[in-house]
Amino acid sequence: MPVFPAKLEEDIATVLLSEEQIAQRIAELGHEISQDYAGKDLMLVGILKGCVLFLSDLVRNIHIPVEFDFVAVSSYGADTKSSGVVRILKDLDESVESKHVLVIEDIVDTGLTLRLSYLLENLRSRRAASVKVCTLLDKPSRRRVDVPVDYRGFTVEDRFVVGYGMDYQGRYRSLPYIGILKPEVYGGG
Ligand code: IMP
Ligand code: MG
Repeated sequence: MPVFPAKLEEDIATVLLSEEQIAQRIAELGHEISQDYAGKDLMLVGILKGCVLFLSDLVRNIHIPVEFDFVAVSSYGADTKSSGVVRILKDLDESVESKHVLVIEDIVDTGLTLRLSYLLENLRSRRAASVKVCTLLDKPSRRRVDVPVDYRGFTVEDRFVVGYGMDYQGRYRSLPYIGILKPEVYGGG
């Protein structure tokens, strides 16, 4: 039975990245993306659900015309890691042909779920003009499958994080900052 804390923050042991640090970095990323894609037909493709807070803050810091859409891709599916079978659960609403696509991810970890590699391949096959990756967090020390990261918010150590879109068992996505859970939340002592 899940235990519901009176306040979500009670489950957080450490704040790793504060609201202010996140906002500052996203302003920089938005500026960089605005310069790099000036004069180009830019389309952000967010991978649900972890990207939602990041994407909504990022687009408000991009000062050139930008469209966005979302995809949901199966991950941590029992077969994903063993067989490499990935499925699109929710597809884009419109064509990406001749658009410059920037895929928005919450965190790139092992790369083993293959959802990002699969999606990049898939978008290229739909004749996007370019396909690049922007992730809020990168855990390079955990990488097992090569994933190209073109824009990254922060590089983090090998710790499981929650908040600002990222979940543990579906919870904590709504926290406005990124933190580390208390060990007892995982069922420990
Ligand atoms: P991977 O790169 O294939 O290992 O999987 C990346 C996905 O795993 C992310 O998009 C997250 O949904 C999830 N994930 C990986 N590390 C964390 C973490 O520290 N906190 C929350 N979710 C994570
Ligand atoms: Mg997740």
